[in-house]
Amino acid sequence: MKLIIINGPNLNLLGKREPEIYGSKTFEDYFKELQSQFKNVELFYFQSNIEGEIIDKLHEIGFTYDGVILNAAAYTHTSVGIGDAVKAITTPVVELHISNVHAREEFRHQSFIAPAAKGVLFGFGLKGYNLAIQSFL
Ligand code: DQA
Repeated sequence: MKLIIINGPNLNLLGKREPEIYGSKTFEDYFKELQSQFKNVELFYFQSNIEGEIIDKLHEIGFTYDGVILNAAAYTHTSVGIGDAVKAITTPVVELHISNVHAREEFRHQSFIAPAAKGVLFGFGLKGYNLAIQSFL
């Protein structure tokens, strides 16, 4: 089982960024925990603040990997291009958000990814990534 977590813009600042919303752990530390929790899963991680790099990564892995866990962050709400990339690939994508986007501003309720996603997880903090991995097992 080969899975990749793709995190979008500003998620490189997890641990420092708005800790009351996103928590105080870095994603690098949390990723190590995930790797030790899922020893039978080949787990990869990619983060970019650049829309086109996220699209390129989806194209690169989207016909061979078993699953993608995609937190496209702010691009979720704006990017037709990432939504189209999710539709274009054959690897199933779980959309994920750390926070409960539906309890936040109206513009965060819109997703260009959800219509093409296998499922959507939001509001469970970093634990959502663990749940998303389990959804592929
Ligand atoms: C987020 C929610 C988005 O609305 C926001 O722009 C983010 C993070 C989340 O994980 O809760 O950057 O995707």
